Amino acid sequence: MVKKGIFIVIEGLDGSGKTTQAAILAEKFFKTYNVLLTAEPSSGKIGNFIRECYLYENERLPTEAEALLFAADRIEHMHNEVKPALDKGKLVICDRYIYSSLAYQGSAGLSLDWIKTINTRSLQPDLSVFIDVSPEKVLERLQRKKSVMETLDTQRKVREVYLKYVDNGELIRIDGDKEKRLVAEDLYRVVSGLLKDAKKFV
Ligand SMILES: Nc1ncnc2c1ncn2[C@@H]1O[C@H](COP(=O)(O)OP(=O)(O)OP(=O)(O)O)[C@@H](O)[C@H]1O
Ligand SMILES: [Mg+2]
Repeated sequence: MVKKGIFIVIEGLDGSGKTTQAAILAEKFFKTYNVLLTAEPSSGKIGNFIRECYLYENERLPTEAEALLFAADRIEHMHNEVKPALDKGKLVICDRYIYSSLAYQGSAGLSLDWIKTINTRSLQPDLSVFIDVSPEKVLERLQRKKSVMETLDTQRKVREVYLKYVDNGELIRIDGDKEKRLVAEDLYRVVSGLLKDAKKFV
């Protein structure tokens, strides 16, 4: 079946501005398009488990289990929210997606191929953007309690994997060190370009 909507994914380290930028982007398109602004971990059963019972506990699960949990949440999210919205022709903006699994569980030692394999049931995004901010800066920005993954060493390794996908062209890099308004302008430009090319909305 042909996908009718457009699926955009925003990636980056913890505290890099994903939620801020996803919200600004959605706001810019709300008047013109039917937008679904969503995020991972999702608000479904598995996503709630990840957020409430796992991320802020002190111990990490075996990395394979962690990857499978995120992949399972992604399938539930696809099934219940993302795919129905795309079928209705909506513009779906998702804060984190498969590249988060590749970057976080991949940098923790798992095979990137295996992570891709367990995520093959989830849809390919039309555009994936990486908001790039240095690991030092993101940890400074995060005032709240840090999750099990938010150490400098982890964030550095996570960024390396993200950059690998920037290099091979799967992720579009945006400089996230700039002030919010300027990052938002860059993001808007990239997404508008895609929409024009797709000739879906313009
Ligand atoms: N370009 C920016 N310059 C300075 N501060 C920013 C910028 N973008 C976001 N922030 C601030 O950094 C903090 C983290 O931003 P935000 O919550 O959007 O990041 P996130 O990537 O969604 O983080 P998380 O991984 O925790 O969900 C917030 O306090 C936000 O106001
Ligand atoms: Mg966020």
